[in-house]
Amino acid sequence: MQRKAASKKRNHSLLKKPGDPFDGYFRTPPKRVSHSERLLGSSNAKSLLNLLCWGSQNDLYTYQQAFERKSGPYVHLDGHEFLMISSYDYLGLIGHTAIESAAIKAIQRYGTGTGGVRLLTGTTDLHYKFEKELAAFKGTKAAMTFSSGYLANIGIISTLLDPSDLIIIDSKAHRSIVEACRLSRIPMEKFNHNDPSSLQEKLEDNPPGRRTLIIIEGIYSMDGDICPLPEIIELKKKYEAYLMVDEAHSFGVLGSEGKGVEEHFGLKTNDVDIWMGSLSKAIPSNGGFIAGSRDLVIYLQHTAGPFVFSAALCPAAIAAARESLQVIQHEPERLTTLKHNTSYLRKGLNELGYDTGAATTQIIPVILGSDMKAYRLSRELFALGIIATPIVYPAVPLGSARLRLCATAAQDKSFLKEIVEGFRKVRGR
Ligand SMILES: Cc1ncc(COP(=O)(O)O)c(C=O)c1O
Repeated sequence: MQRKAASKKRNHSLLKKPGDPFDGYFRTPPKRVSHSERLLGSSNAKSLLNLLCWGSQNDLYTYQQAFERKSGPYVHLDGHEFLMISSYDYLGLIGHTAIESAAIKAIQRYGTGTGGVRLLTGTTDLHYKFEKELAAFKGTKAAMTFSSGYLANIGIISTLLDPSDLIIIDSKAHRSIVEACRLSRIPMEKFNHNDPSSLQEKLEDNPPGRRTLIIIEGIYSMDGDICPLPEIIELKKKYEAYLMVDEAHSFGVLGSEGKGVEEHFGLKTNDVDIWMGSLSKAIPSNGGFIAGSRDLVIYLQHTAGPFVFSAALCPAAIAAARESLQVIQHEPERLTTLKHNTSYLRKGLNELGYDTGAATTQIIPVILGSDMKAYRLSRELFALGIIATPIVYPAVPLGSARLRLCATAAQDKSFLKEIVEGFRKVRGR
């Protein structure tokens, strides 16, 4: 279906500027009443609102575009077709007919909501079946789902540790990990990105006997590089620490069968104490999960706030995730296509002189420097019918703003050629 769209003549050139998600609110600088002045009175809040006003007035605001159909290599905005090169749909599973029909059947049998939290009335047999299949796929004894990956991180970290413990995270760890440590007031230290010797220094400084959790990611979401898992496992063993790996971007993608970063390195699953993942990237649904020992899962089922006090994932989301896991196992050719598309795209950009940093995976940053450069390049590409999202401070350090591109298995050669050609046209502007 998506391939057919490629051969259609696209009419994106008619759309002169991005859609306005603020409905004209910023057309004239809004006057702020004194009440909200106080609530949003910090210099950060003021400068952000001023920046949004300026970006909106100059048609440079390309976030929150309201797409009108399902996502894929092509998306639709205000009746126009665009090339989407920043989607997390790594395996190209959005729109897969078996996954869609599993979700529809789940709605017909179980309804649209569960009517409760998992612990009380929100669990269906679908939840259990999926969690068992997920654990079997990952090679752990048990797994459990949360309503998002973000909440899974908050739930795990805030429940398992307390302020007498220590968490050591990679300096590029995701916001949900940092936030979980801050909210639960657990002391947190950062080691230099992907640098085991920096981690070792932190571990050595730590008094013996203190429980220490190291948290890393399989693939880093802003840079597209892979963690040095073998070295980190060695350190965790040497210093008797615990290890958690966030696989939001590596689950379904790394390894010969998509099992994740341990499969990529040929390591044992149980060398890692806690696996965490998202159900909204390679798996085209919603939700998050953790996988690990039975004791860990049973304990978290009764104590993790986002599991105990927040509604269960809806049946359609669970059914879609469950069917996706089957598709991942039965359609391994998607991984081959993804690898091929990743190399093609990265090579094409590098040949044009773009800096893609240390990326080796499907996430390919085009590192530009200033936030303004990223906004402007994204806007230039928008005018060519390409959606490439700008990532700026604080999501990345100041001076390393970028467009974050993602290869997916749904892209074909003509699509990728058009993307590279678009980047050729805007180069140096
Ligand atoms: C590394 C990482 N962890 C966690 C999350 C949160 O996952 P979710 O989107 O399922 O909430 C993300 C989201 O992109 C992520 O990049």
